[in-house]
Amino acid sequence: MSRFRTLDDLNAAGRRVLVRVDLNVPFRDGRVSDHTRIDRVLPTIRELSDKGAKVILLAHFGRPKGERQPELSLEPVAAAVSERLGRPVGFAPDCVGEPAEKGIAAMADGDVLLLENTRFHAGEERNDDALADRMAALGDAFVADAFSCAHRAHVSTEGLARRLETVAGRCMEAELTALESALGDPERPAAALVGGAKVSTKLDVLENLSGSVDLLIIGGAMANTFLLARGFEVGRSLAEPDLVATAQRIMFAAENRGCEILLPLDAVVADSLAADVDSDVVDIAAVPADRMILDVGPKSIAQTVARLEDCRTLMWNGPMGAFETPPFDRATVEIARAAARLTKSGKLNSVAGGGDTVAALNHADAAADFSYVSTAGGAFLEWIEGKVLPGVAVLQR
Ligand code: 3PG
Repeated sequence: MSRFRTLDDLNAAGRRVLVRVDLNVPFRDGRVSDHTRIDRVLPTIRELSDKGAKVILLAHFGRPKGERQPELSLEPVAAAVSERLGRPVGFAPDCVGEPAEKGIAAMADGDVLLLENTRFHAGEERNDDALADRMAALGDAFVADAFSCAHRAHVSTEGLARRLETVAGRCMEAELTALESALGDPERPAAALVGGAKVSTKLDVLENLSGSVDLLIIGGAMANTFLLARGFEVGRSLAEPDLVATAQRIMFAAENRGCEILLPLDAVVADSLAADVDSDVVDIAAVPADRMILDVGPKSIAQTVARLEDCRTLMWNGPMGAFETPPFDRATVEIARAAARLTKSGKLNSVAGGGDTVAALNHADAAADFSYVSTAGGAFLEWIEGKVLPGVAVLQR
């Protein structure tokens, strides 16, 4: 990836700077229930404000599909950003037009203002030129700080960058640097751990990763389809028998590219997925026909940890087992903790993200010791699929 400009390259003092952030945060009982995404963009906001910019935040919330839906207003989120920032954050009830213009005209250098949900305008998701022109007219420069929205070619992620001087914010910079270090030009040996339920949702991920890592560790229910492809029986486990040929093709292609695929050696099986049901550990060649695999077993954990000890880089996406339902969280917890320990001791660069990966690592109490945990879901997956993200491509023009 070619380099991109950052806040270091932007003369911000006295200028109106539009900043695209991801404030699509979980909300419960009228309050933000997880501040991670807000906290990730505070360094950009603080830095711009300290440099004397008028900091104008753009964000979406939910999927209102071009309609003004009061329950998807960003107004309560402005209060949450203000609280985390420790400074006032104003709010304008529209992201273009008079409300936005009035709000911005009243700003002093260093002030922070959040504009209403960009997706209240249908033109946002269409990357409509007229809307982009109106939004661009509100600022003198653009800071892209929402990697987690960079897979969308919307006005606020892509259109603005084609109209204004554009740099990456600190959160975008950190995301791109971390992903690049794990996949672009990783220190070797490099491993990827891919878990989750279905092969069908991760075909492109597996194909792309097998072209860039030396070791591909497959866990979660998707490993079951690969086990079928290797001729093992998986009983009543979740699997996709119609994708056995695809799994075989992925394994064959990986081998030809010098990427070793690591599958479970043993499994934790039970009659059903329920907390604390009776479970047993069985060899992978002895999964009973009437039971289901819900986690990988202790031999598989030991095998994975031993292999990670020889690696310098790890890209982690997805859980190893049904981690939300103990005791089937054991492999995810133990392997995540081992990766965290190796990272802490300086032996491993560990980068994680996508879907429920963050929840899994938090459950293992391991996220804080990973080198980097992305806040992105869909954007992270598309990146590890090898796709060009429009909101990143536009930074590299
Ligand atoms: C996310 O929550 O992953 C981002 O904010 C993107 O949201 P979207 O999937 O609605 O575009």
